[in-house]
Amino acid sequence: KRHLISAADLTRDDAVLILDTAEEMARVADRPIKKLPTLRGRTVVNLFFEDSTRTRISFEAAEKRLSADVINFAAKGSSVSKGESLKDTAQTLEAMGVDAVVIRHGASGAPYRLATSGWIDAAVINAGDGTHQHPTQSLLDAFTMRRRLVGRDAGIGQDLSGKRITIVGDILHSRVARSNVDLLHTLGAEVTLVAPPTLLPVGVGHWPCEVSYDLDSTLPKSDAVMMLRVQRERMNAAFFPTEREYSRRYGLDGDRMAKMPEHAIVMHPGPMVRGMEITAEVADSERCTAIEQVANGVHTRMAVLYLLLGGNEPAVTHARTEET
Ligand code: CP
Repeated sequence: KRHLISAADLTRDDAVLILDTAEEMARVADRPIKKLPTLRGRTVVNLFFEDSTRTRISFEAAEKRLSADVINFAAKGSSVSKGESLKDTAQTLEAMGVDAVVIRHGASGAPYRLATSGWIDAAVINAGDGTHQHPTQSLLDAFTMRRRLVGRDAGIGQDLSGKRITIVGDILHSRVARSNVDLLHTLGAEVTLVAPPTLLPVGVGHWPCEVSYDLDSTLPKSDAVMMLRVQRERMNAAFFPTEREYSRRYGLDGDRMAKMPEHAIVMHPGPMVRGMEITAEVADSERCTAIEQVANGVHTRMAVLYLLLGGNEPAVTHARTEET
């Protein structure tokens, strides 16, 4: 059984195959009828124990575009609130005959536990676990970077060798940062993390990236700058940085954006806190890919679902077959 638990589990060839397959899925999305019959008769459960807007909706859109039967499960309003465990919840879903579980959970390691416990037989896709990993986010981010920095057609079969990516903000609590550092390193990019010392994890020196405390000197050397939200919900109130001080040193405003090379893009996984890590001027500028990332999330998640569940044929062939 194949799962997607961590971006660190992907080889360069795995990742490039997913990105190439996502481009094929994007071609399907450009057609008047956006649906493929690929997962007809397969059931996918979206098991969300934590809040989500983008990930939950884009997985659902991806599943429906592949013609899967979709079951949406939110912990709020379920028997989880009465104390039911992950094991019992999972086995309840298994009894209904599911082929894949897309899981978001506040506990780092919950998707790994689900995939390796023997509780269920379904493929497990991590949609974000605690501060650990968010592999499909890093894939859609890499897809967006490849399209913007290499080119939609020129990018096919290519990785991100030599591209300089800066990730700014609350690295300590960010599964997006961890997944991106892993995947971007695998794809040959050079990653620099910029954060206040209090928002960097112990051991970051062992990650395959550089660390800087100076955003202004890093911006001119960046092909993409990814801004992250300060995750107050995962912090003790005593450690909240003040908004004004944080924005002054680590926020991206129009003046700072002007220091980036002309071709460079601003990325944000969302949700954005305008006025904190990013100004409205930057968020709404043509250089900001936040909305494009959401659209790319559907293509990328279709590719992941296809490759995990869709059979033995290469998706590229399959998507073309459907087109004729
Ligand atoms: N980027 C992201 O994971 O957003 P959501 O929390 O809205 O899913």
